[in-house]
Amino acid sequence: MSVVVQPLPDVNPLQDSLRFDRRVPPCAIVIFGASGDLSKRKLLPSLYRLFYERRISSSFAVIGSSRTPMSDDVFRDRMKESVSKFLEDAPFDEDVWQSFAQCLFYVPGDLANPESYEDIKRKLGQVEKTNETAGNALFYLSTQPSYYAEAILELGKHDLQKGSGWRRVIIEKPFGHDLTSARKLNDEIHKVFDESAIYRIDHYLGKETVQNILAFRFGNGIFEPLWNRRYIDYLQITAAESIGVEGRGAYYQEAGALRDMIQNHLSQVMATVSMEPPTVFDANNVRDERAKLLRSVRIMKPEDVPKYAVSGQYGPGKIGGQDVPGFREEPSVDKNAQTDTYAAVTFFVDNWRWAGVPFYVRTGKRMPKRVTDIAIQFKGPPLGLFSQETRTGLREARPNLLVLRIQPEEGISLRFLSKSPGSGMRVRPVSMDFNYGSSFGERSPTAYETLLLDAMAGDPTLYTRQDMVEASWQIVQPILDLWANTKFDFPNYPAGSWGPKASDEMLARQGHVWRIP
Ligand code: BG6
Repeated sequence: MSVVVQPLPDVNPLQDSLRFDRRVPPCAIVIFGASGDLSKRKLLPSLYRLFYERRISSSFAVIGSSRTPMSDDVFRDRMKESVSKFLEDAPFDEDVWQSFAQCLFYVPGDLANPESYEDIKRKLGQVEKTNETAGNALFYLSTQPSYYAEAILELGKHDLQKGSGWRRVIIEKPFGHDLTSARKLNDEIHKVFDESAIYRIDHYLGKETVQNILAFRFGNGIFEPLWNRRYIDYLQITAAESIGVEGRGAYYQEAGALRDMIQNHLSQVMATVSMEPPTVFDANNVRDERAKLLRSVRIMKPEDVPKYAVSGQYGPGKIGGQDVPGFREEPSVDKNAQTDTYAAVTFFVDNWRWAGVPFYVRTGKRMPKRVTDIAIQFKGPPLGLFSQETRTGLREARPNLLVLRIQPEEGISLRFLSKSPGSGMRVRPVSMDFNYGSSFGERSPTAYETLLLDAMAGDPTLYTRQDMVEASWQIVQPILDLWANTKFDFPNYPAGSWGPKASDEMLARQGHVWRIP
């Protein structure tokens, strides 16, 4: 018997035909950890949205699984609540929901219990008939990371990695806790799944603005000739968040900012901004270049870590006029926690293009605002012919700054000097701005929409590969090792500030300052 799926309302034909032309084959997605936060906030809203835009066919099913016992109907009700709450910039449509809900199923189960996998197998067989999923299945591991290896081995024991259609697995970050555990996890996964079926997710690679870096660099002729050590003085990559740990204290206390953001998201952003052009734009060529770049990042000697890496932790402070507690006062956090909630690192890429150019990368919780951007500071002209006016009265030593704004105001700005009106030849910095929202006038898909669709379509370009994951662990490992054996005098920055003084000092030693984004 097939499920009757109600007709969907018309979507904007412009969106449908021009931008969203990727359609995917029938399939079932099995979400392990379906009652968790990621599933509620990101996965289900993204799947609903893809369904709404008809980018996934109605021959589709989601099988949620977690320890919480509940029926299909209760699962549908809970997901309806989450989807309507967490849909980003998109309306919730009751009719579409009714059709979508018929594709949702739930199997209660414990990852450690072999019977749970048999239940999932039965359910997959069932939806293959009722929802015509053609035996294709995508397993999404959104559980506690310590269960990943066990769950994959069990999938293998129950022959779930094979079926009448394709089988793939998506693994959420963190992929390992350090280099050794990441390697071990890779080995375990490879016992069951072939590398071509493994999708390691890093949602930053799915962000439109991160993808646009490649379009900007390699789709235009004018920037790439300048994109090297001869013209670029330094780069700054900032990912600031005003939120704290939001109920994730227990996880975050063990992870810290370096592991949570720099090892994965920001090292991938850094690779995207600095990799060589691929010869062909396909999964392997793009990933080869990202991996090659990450392997060129200098691995710090232990004695260099204090010079090139700064760790911070927020104390109580104020954000937007509101008092906020320090990290050690957050729920489930140890009163003496040595966790870094701020990390700043100076990386060097030892290749011909970048030798000697510092890449300053920083991230922190409880910063004054949420902003992620990449600032590329070009060198100044050889002679300063004009006297310069600035709003602050300070002379800008190097006027040409290119900022790739990842979020929340997505766009690109280029700063250059212009003549100030009036007699005499005085110049002042001005800026040329491109704004994503106003230029395209339509909503961009969220990172999870893009990535889920890609995995269903079998396109791993925006997923990380084993060699990339290992290379990015390698570049942070000396810092993690030293910090694990250091007793920091925390907290060292108040909530609502731009981080510890030591971070400014790290740049000052190179004659540079952090930009206020
Ligand atoms: C996650 C981190 O991977 O990325 C979080 O675990 C962080 O701590 C989040 O808040 C940031 O993602 P985004 O898309 O909001 O910048």
